[in-house]
Amino acid sequence: MINYKQYIADKLCGQIDKTVLQNTIVTTADDAKGDYSLPCFRFAKELHRSPQDIASQFANQLVGDGVIDKAEAVNGYLNVFVNRQKYIDDVIGKVRSEGDKYGNSKEGKGKTICIDYSSVNIAKSLHIGHLGTTAIGGSLYKLFKALGYKVVGINHLGDYGTQFGKMIVAYKLWGDDKRIKAMGAKGLQELYVKFHQEEEHNPELTEQAREWFKRIEQGDEEAQKLFLYFKRITLNDVKRTYKRLNVRFDSWDGESFFNDKMDKPLQFLRDKGLITISDGAQVVDLSQYDMPPCLLVKSDGSSLYATRDLAAAFYRKDTYNFDKCLYVVAYQQDLHFRQLFKVLELAGLPWAQDMVHVAYGMVSLEEGAMSTRKGNAVFLEDVLDKAVQKSLDIITAKNPDLSDKEKIAEQVGVGAVIFSALENARIKDITFTFDRVLNFDGETAPYLQYTYARCCSLFQKAGISYLARIMPDYSVLNNIECLRLAKLVARFPDIIAESAHKYEPSILSKYLIDLAQSFNKFYIEHRILSEDLTRQNALLAMVEAVRTVLKKGLALLGIDAPEKM
Ligand code: ARG
Repeated sequence: MINYKQYIADKLCGQIDKTVLQNTIVTTADDAKGDYSLPCFRFAKELHRSPQDIASQFANQLVGDGVIDKAEAVNGYLNVFVNRQKYIDDVIGKVRSEGDKYGNSKEGKGKTICIDYSSVNIAKSLHIGHLGTTAIGGSLYKLFKALGYKVVGINHLGDYGTQFGKMIVAYKLWGDDKRIKAMGAKGLQELYVKFHQEEEHNPELTEQAREWFKRIEQGDEEAQKLFLYFKRITLNDVKRTYKRLNVRFDSWDGESFFNDKMDKPLQFLRDKGLITISDGAQVVDLSQYDMPPCLLVKSDGSSLYATRDLAAAFYRKDTYNFDKCLYVVAYQQDLHFRQLFKVLELAGLPWAQDMVHVAYGMVSLEEGAMSTRKGNAVFLEDVLDKAVQKSLDIITAKNPDLSDKEKIAEQVGVGAVIFSALENARIKDITFTFDRVLNFDGETAPYLQYTYARCCSLFQKAGISYLARIMPDYSVLNNIECLRLAKLVARFPDIIAESAHKYEPSILSKYLIDLAQSFNKFYIEHRILSEDLTRQNALLAMVEAVRTVLKKGLALLGIDAPEKM
């Protein structure tokens, strides 16, 4: 496909540098005013002429040539009309030839991105608070892959700390393997909650927990065995949920993995003269940067969350030699990451600037949407199950004869929940209601899936599964709805790149809603299936392009697209 911006810049360069021109050209918002515009204001000073004068000269340089139709100078802008018929042909042709690779690029070739996301805590079940990190991290993983990067998904397990001493005590007192087997991680979490209730009037328990924690640290066999049991139960559980959410991890190296890897980075900081002693603890003073000191070794010699993250950063650089290392973690941990990154920077490590905290806001349910049990955790599985059940009800009511209803309801319900975490700028706090995220006509995943299924059903009704190699006569597509669709489809590769570079899957979400809405307008305006096969096939070629982008776009968000709904 022709790169139109480049094509135009090529024709105009001379006095102005070609790349500058190309980067200044924008797509025109109003189709009636053209397709590409070049604002000429920024050249006025350099060329000692008025913007309108420059635009007029440019307009004269662009003659109709089969690619460009005409150009006009209006108020200092050069407005270019492309040959729209050819443009639409081009866009459709490109999508057809690239298929599900459309939108991919090679910009990341030879580069590696680490993404630390979801990062669960052992002996706890995934809860609604994990939705943001899991959905955003999962989508960034897929977006960077599409751009050709090597991506390393890391689940930095919370598998170290005094809480595991408590877990062992609770398990030995009240643990019931059958119940744990049936309830999974929730069964462990329940024990933990009970421990805290009992501990209040029985300080003896606190002492026992401390003992057990010590035994874990000393590598005591029984303590290890129990800890590994908790870990196995938790991971079994969360892996099932990750499968439903279409996310994957390449590393499960968590906090305890760094038990024996903290000395080297600490010594490195000491050698740089960064560590000072404060009340017996080892800290990096950050007062110059308006931050509290970064505490790395407590006075009793024990390490902290930050020490483990410090070791993990060194380890990741050594092991993966990343170009970027992302941490998709709630904004509440903002200070922690600012401190960590600052310490690395002060240590003179150039890669400190490649560390990014991809912060996000809170997801919560509207009041009363789900009964929260004691300890008020709303489990993610329960939210998914409820969304799936509601989807099944809706689908059954709308389309009672549909086969495979359960499978489709799973795709719709889970998709709706994922989308709720990806539809808005990630930093926003969101409250979701089941009715809103499952509204088939709203700006939701089910709406996108429904539009995709509508595309598929057109092919089904036409009796073909895809268009054969013949090039249909696209002159049928010379109308404003098709032009808008083609323009949107053409933007898809840029949308993928922008969503990744800004760590913002919501850019893709909003784009897909736009595309689906434009498609549905097109669908209403144009009767696609008809006796006239030339016409029908041209319109179906447009449908095919949209269908390809919808499916791939949804997949990049982690959402499945059923062919029927
Ligand atoms: N497990 C932590 C929590 O639940 C999140 C870990 C994020 N990753 C990291 N490298 N600190 O808060």
